[in-house]
Amino acid sequence: MNVGVFVFQWLHVIFAIFWFGSSMAMNFIFIPALNRLPLDKQREIGSHLGAVAERVLNVVGPVVIVLGVIRGTVFGPIQSLDALTSTYGVTWLIALIAALATYLWAKVQIEPALARMNAIPIDQALDADGRPSPAMLAAIGVVKRNAMLELLGFLVVFTCMMLLRFGY
Ligand code: HEM
Repeated sequence: MNVGVFVFQWLHVIFAIFWFGSSMAMNFIFIPALNRLPLDKQREIGSHLGAVAERVLNVVGPVVIVLGVIRGTVFGPIQSLDALTSTYGVTWLIALIAALATYLWAKVQIEPALARMNAIPIDQALDADGRPSPAMLAAIGVVKRNAMLELLGFLVVFTCMMLLRFGY
């Protein structure tokens, strides 16, 4: 067994679980759980959750990508530009582009949507009857849709990972 391959794959996979897993947990556990709370509590907890997630994932996402690049090149079969034309090379390149796009999606679509939602003053976020206002509902909808769309990027990357595993 090549120790370098083992170490880089181990690090890559554990950080990848962290990154992909946090998106799944956000979509299928935290957001549905927050939805059951009153709006002021949702905003209070949601803004802390978002800030911590942003700080941590700003490190975890790039670490996964860099480790994946090293695993495929230094410790993998992509040792020249020619190798990028092999089936393995094309799959690896698709994974790289999809992972970068997924990371950027969070930066340019999820984080700003969250900030816009949290910037709605509480008196405008609720109707007179105490229900979320149309503006608030629209802002929540954008956050949920953008967070869900991020999963598509992860699914593309994850599928590429499985293909690489079998040599494609
Ligand atoms: C969300 C992002 C990612 C996830 C969840 C992920 C997940 C994984 C997993 C689970 C494996 C182990 C596959 C197996 O042995 O069965 C793996 C391997 C690998 N990953 Fe990733 N990965 C991600 C991003 C990337 C990126 C961006 C690259 C580089 C472009 C990359 C390159 C690789 C390589 C080269 C392997 C070894 C494949 C082999 O030859 O067996 N990964 N990844």
